[in-house]
Amino acid sequence: MKVLIAVSEAFPFCKTGGLGDVSGALAQVFSRAENTEVVLFLPRYRNVGGGAFSPKAAGGSFLVPVGGRLETATMSRVQWGKVAVYFIENPKYFDRPGMYRSTAGDYDDNDERFVFFSRAVLEGAKFIGFKPDVIHCHDWQTGLIPAYLRTIYRIDSFYAKTASVFTIHNIAYQGMFPRETMVKAGLSWQDFTPEKLEFYGGLNFMKAALVFADLVTTVSPTYASEIQYRPEFGHGLEGVLKARSADMFGILNGIDEEIWDPATDTFLERGYELQNFQRGKAAAKQALQHELGLDENKDLILAGVVSRLDHQKGLDILLNVAPEFLDKVQFVVLGLGDPGLSDALAALAAANPRSVAFRSGFDESLAHRIYGGSDVFVMPSRFEPCGLPQMIAMRYGALPLVTRTGGLKDTVFYNGEPKDSNGFAIDSADDGQFRSVLGHIVSLYGWRENWNMMVRNAMRGDYSWTKSAEAYLKLFSVAAQRRQL
Ligand code: ADP
Ligand code: GLC
Repeated sequence: MKVLIAVSEAFPFCKTGGLGDVSGALAQVFSRAENTEVVLFLPRYRNVGGGAFSPKAAGGSFLVPVGGRLETATMSRVQWGKVAVYFIENPKYFDRPGMYRSTAGDYDDNDERFVFFSRAVLEGAKFIGFKPDVIHCHDWQTGLIPAYLRTIYRIDSFYAKTASVFTIHNIAYQGMFPRETMVKAGLSWQDFTPEKLEFYGGLNFMKAALVFADLVTTVSPTYASEIQYRPEFGHGLEGVLKARSADMFGILNGIDEEIWDPATDTFLERGYELQNFQRGKAAAKQALQHELGLDENKDLILAGVVSRLDHQKGLDILLNVAPEFLDKVQFVVLGLGDPGLSDALAALAAANPRSVAFRSGFDESLAHRIYGGSDVFVMPSRFEPCGLPQMIAMRYGALPLVTRTGGLKDTVFYNGEPKDSNGFAIDSADDGQFRSVLGHIVSLYGWRENWNMMVRNAMRGDYSWTKSAEAYLKLFSVAAQRRQL
């Protein structure tokens, strides 16, 4: 089977969050499956791969229609294991300091940038003669591809047998643009109806994908049901989702178990595994306390956070409640995003330098040291399509404290019995519940046998891609077979 992955970010080339981790990991696991050929298309942002890769020009340039004009796309290529990675290059759109935004906010031509990318993927695959059985698209940035396949490219014999599978990573970001974007996209006004592309008078890229993709997936079973049946989760698209219910699947993300392995992690003081985690984690915790200028006291609970700073992640709750626990719990936060949250975290840390540390920024190596050094990993999200940090934390023996939503509910189990628990969970992102579970954590921490039993449960979990990759490949076959008919 020939699989083309079209996505706006993929680790290790470019990443702002979980989408990048997941698409990068999927490309690798699919490419290792039998009889599967994988090509990954990415925009060529400034400094992709941080200089660790040197993409080579992939023959000439081609033209891409955008809003009645023709824009030039140039491609470059890197062989990444068994995956051929193609970068779509156009400096006007992608040679910028940020991938989606500047410090002033989202780029105001994001519609045009991803119209260009989506059409360039379809033209680019033809250019290199890669005729995919399935195009796997992710989130709104590539949401127009399934629509293009069934409209403009419907009569193109190159794509006659190509199916599309669309994965929702976060339905809170839909790529909602004014009706004028229809012109940039080159789509027909005939399709600008509520049943197809129109959404409250504008063009919604994610809706386009939900309507036109052969199959739709999302990144956990619980999120699949939340977005269909609960309006506060579906963000206005629950009707479209319900209409596609029979074609909609929840497949849980995994984590890259090579990158996230406490036994071989070179960012840690010393590696550790299930058998000897106590010494390894104690060393990692002390090193982290030292690095961040916290009290080097092993009896304090170290609660870590690695997160986008966004309302979704519920960190305002941590800010409200943390001050009551500073004699028992140290808080370490690494995050980037909302300036209000960032300022409040910085102020809390400045007022309590021995018990709270805040680092603003995106820092891969500090993230590893936080997962390694934390006793508890805090993630009180209001909604969470899947969430990777809670799984990484469990692999590193840090017990996650989560809300029972989306993928958090599918991965963290807490029923008051340590022998059946691998973390802590509250029903909703709420100060009172958060306070009460932190209180429980403080008392349980003194009861080391039970605590360690939970750490073992967490570390023993299967967070690999094995089962989920199989599920995707099965769906790809189903989608491709439907196109053969
Ligand atoms: P999202 O933030 O996209 O909702 P996830 O929870 O799935 O996604 O995953 C976030 C990923 O990004 C994890 O790998 C996490 O370790 C990483 N991450 C988030 N913020 C930072 C940061 N400030 N520095 C380093 N890594 C980060
Ligand atoms: C999104 C979600 C996150 C998920 C990630 C990867 O960014 O917010 O929950 O883990 O995508 O699928």
